[in-house]
Amino acid sequence: MVSGDLIVGPPPGPFAPTGPLRVPGDKSIAHRALILAARATGPATVTDAPPGLDVAATRRCIEALGAKVVADGATLTITPAPSGHERTAVGLDCANSGTTMRLLCGALAGRPGAAVLDGDASLRRRPMQRVTEPLAAMGARISTTDGHAPLHVEGAELHGISYECPVPSAQVKSALLIAGLDAGSPTTVTLPGPSRDHTERMLAALGVPVDVSADGRTVAVTGADLPGFALTVPGDVSSAAFVLGLAAVTAGSVRVEGVGLNPSRTRVLDVLESMGCSVQATTTDQTVGEPLGTVELSGRATRGFVLEADAVADCIDEIPLLCAVAACVDAESVVRDAEELRVKESDRLATMARGLRMLGAEVDELVDGLRIRGRVRRRSGRQPVQVMASGDHRVALAAAVAGCALGPVEIVGWDVAAVSYAEFADVLAQAGAVVGDHV
Ligand code: S3P
Repeated sequence: MVSGDLIVGPPPGPFAPTGPLRVPGDKSIAHRALILAARATGPATVTDAPPGLDVAATRRCIEALGAKVVADGATLTITPAPSGHERTAVGLDCANSGTTMRLLCGALAGRPGAAVLDGDASLRRRPMQRVTEPLAAMGARISTTDGHAPLHVEGAELHGISYECPVPSAQVKSALLIAGLDAGSPTTVTLPGPSRDHTERMLAALGVPVDVSADGRTVAVTGADLPGFALTVPGDVSSAAFVLGLAAVTAGSVRVEGVGLNPSRTRVLDVLESMGCSVQATTTDQTVGEPLGTVELSGRATRGFVLEADAVADCIDEIPLLCAVAACVDAESVVRDAEELRVKESDRLATMARGLRMLGAEVDELVDGLRIRGRVRRRSGRQPVQVMASGDHRVALAAAVAGCALGPVEIVGWDVAAVSYAEFADVLAQAGAVVGDHV
């Protein structure tokens, strides 16, 4: 892996690897698996968890809470803390990971002991009341620092609630469902729009009764014990998106195997197809209630897109990549209804607007989105332009993709890519892109 800053220059031709590629395991699924394993009644195994820093943070947190985690090749064996395990004011470093922090709030709220959850500067800026308020309504003793981390959680007796969540957040939903496993009465969560459904799928696959409404927006659980389990994590479609994007901006063709194909995560494939690429997703298998399979993409993206309303939630983590592809197309693309992007690892509307302008696209930053007029011609000259990763892994990865079409880019703070997909530097090198610390 390359550390610090990274210069990426266009490859000499299309990205068309001869064999199939694989991507690291799905971050969302791995966080849930580790957090649920730590509260199971027996040991669990989790295979193919991604090596990135976010999931490493979750692993460290459950270890700090008394779980034992042993790695053997690609498999982690998690032995929960023995019952009666005493914990007093454990400090939990969630690093850059919002999922770690929000889901752990739910996991700790109804369990004896106290903990302080904190994270890096980016995580400390992110809103936490969206999860602490409904948990407090369930009886949790939880406090924030002006709505942000550090958070103090002290285990309390929980009762179920029926909660209408104002934001379509899978993290909030999941925190409440996990807390609901410890509550004395049913917990029901309704979201205002679509969101990823990994928690409800995983709980159901592990034998916990979960009620999901026909539109998927309301989910209910009652208190339940979780048995130990064995689970394999599918490849992360959010990481695969960068590989597909690299093919889409270089008129290449690529096949990615073992990718999670949960329909709440695959909108990115439809958008790339609508941009003119040929995209084929084939489900070949199933793991913890999750479909997985192969994704093939070929051909250059040539058209823009309009992403708004529910479609935004369906590809919320892929919008940096889609905007990077849009910046390489001779067309206008628009993202609206995406104010949630302002409270991700960075303010992604602002950081992407700045970065794509540096690369030569015309970008208007809207209150709730972006309007991008791309360019197709590579800048002349070998001098890289600088794009700031701004402490955001997806901004760093997206800048690398755009640099492969628009001309050399120096990604300042590239090392943050290790949060999810440091190995993308190797994929860029495999594509023949210039990758290093000079051009
Ligand atoms: C996630 C949910 C989404 C997503 C994040 C991971 C999850 O966030 O952006 O990267 O694993 O539940 P929100 O729940 O805040 O929408």
